[in-house]
Amino acid sequence: MDWMVISTWVFSFPGNRLAAQKLKAGCSAVEALQVLAASVEADPDVDNVGYAGFPNCEGEVELDAACMDGKTMKLGAVAAMKGYANPFEIAVRVMRESPPNLLMGIGAEEFAARMGYAETELLTESNQKEWMHRRQELDSANIRQGEAAFGHDTVGIVALDVNGDMAAGTSTSGLAMKMRGRVGDSPLAGSGFYVDNDVGGAVATGLGEDIMKGCLSFHAVELMRQGLSPQDAATSAVCRLHARLERMGKPVGNMAVICADRFGCHAAAANHGSFAYAAATAGLEPAIHTVDPCCG
Ligand code: GLY
Repeated sequence: MDWMVISTWVFSFPGNRLAAQKLKAGCSAVEALQVLAASVEADPDVDNVGYAGFPNCEGEVELDAACMDGKTMKLGAVAAMKGYANPFEIAVRVMRESPPNLLMGIGAEEFAARMGYAETELLTESNQKEWMHRRQELDSANIRQGEAAFGHDTVGIVALDVNGDMAAGTSTSGLAMKMRGRVGDSPLAGSGFYVDNDVGGAVATGLGEDIMKGCLSFHAVELMRQGLSPQDAATSAVCRLHARLERMGKPVGNMAVICADRFGCHAAAANHGSFAYAAATAGLEPAIHTVDPCCG
């Protein structure tokens, strides 16, 4: 069976290359996700994921992550978790070792500590300075908490291994300057991620508040189940949700989805013009694919 790995945004390219090497050597789809997510989470230049993620309104870095196994349909997720630099790894432990699927806040942190992970300071000096500056601006303009949140570039990954098994997952610090306790789509099954070996997988990136209104990842997978190609499924899922939200007369948030079927054919769609993703397959070296907006 041919392997494949796709991951959101240009910043996932180095991790995609590492995951491709592992898949080529025969590792599992979940292991490929672990390698890729760990690479992005540890990168201090990526300020939307893991270490150096931008803080919430209170100056705290709260992380969300999730992993789903397309063979067993097991999933694990952590949300609004503070103090641990490798949330994706902890989500995998939740998937494998905890009765609940989703642990949040202090519950996720206690679970991570029990599993032996060390607490880490995630807030970098430069992010703290920028946070203080933005916080002063908000306070002086009397802007309500969470109203000036920005940026939401999740790393989302779908992989297919040589055994024909698939996995999908996400990791993000969510919106910068978000309200404390705000959780986006990334750790929510169906919204931020979904995978089923029988069909394929999908992951989303963009404004979680809008993505979760359409269960974007589940919708893309279900369209593939109905027989649509990955490209048609991604485009239909994004455009349907965008059109539905547009009818409400308010600006629709940026959103994008990447998806792949169980044969390793992959595609993406976005309602804005700045999205790109990394892809590697058994036949093609890792490369960046830019995505033209399909609507919006
Ligand atoms: N899509 C990531 C978030 O909204 O938090």
